[in-house]
Amino acid sequence: MIPKHPSESLTILTDLVLPSETNPLNNLFGGELLARMDRAASIAARRHSRRIVVTASVNHVAFNRAVPIGSVVTVEAKISRSFKSSMEIYIDVWIEDRESGLRNKANEGIYTFVAVDDTGRPVEVAPIIPETELEKQRFDAALRRKQLSLVLAGKMNPHDATELKALFS
Ligand SMILES: CC(C)(COP(=O)(O)OP(=O)(O)OC[C@H]1O[C@@H](n2cnc3c(N)ncnc32)[C@H](O)[C@@H]1OP(=O)(O)O)[C@@H](O)C(=O)NCCC(=O)NCCS
Repeated sequence: MIPKHPSESLTILTDLVLPSETNPLNNLFGGELLARMDRAASIAARRHSRRIVVTASVNHVAFNRAVPIGSVVTVEAKISRSFKSSMEIYIDVWIEDRESGLRNKANEGIYTFVAVDDTGRPVEVAPIIPETELEKQRFDAALRRKQLSLVLAGKMNPHDATELKALFS
């Protein structure tokens, strides 16, 4: 399969935070942000694989900053690494300052999607070649995150998680 670059899957969703999407502190409800991240990640995975894709795992989410009502929120998703049928998608969440227009990083997440055929069976996806320094860092750490996710899901024996073991040796 012809390799692709992460930029080919880049997906950017920009939207407002409306009153119906907030918690009692008038900040964006966490589940609403997770849904926006899932949507962006799903489109990125589809752009990379050109297949039906399903969410296999939410590997990591950090709600570092609250997102106030009325904020303009941008969710950016890109494939950080592809394996056989699975793809790790890295999602950065930005808030736009109303007056300056500058963007501040608010949150981030890492999801795993799997490409499947019409019957839901996993199918192979194209390899990925990272280009920027950040893309290379995320690519290099992705195998460790995949092993951690599989161990936590009970789908991999910890003894086989070579990348994780290397962290502690
Ligand atoms: C995701 C799914 C297709 C995996 O199917 P499976 O029968 O477990 O298939 P496999 O064991 O061959 O795994 C397929 C790939 O997913 C990866 N995978 C499975 N579970 C994973 C997890 N928890 N974390 C990371 N990767 C995972 C496997 O490592 C494998 O990757 P690879 O092919 O790149 O090496 C299947 O579990 C499924 O359809 N789940 C429901 C998805 C869904 O409905 N999502 C929306 C939730 S509402």
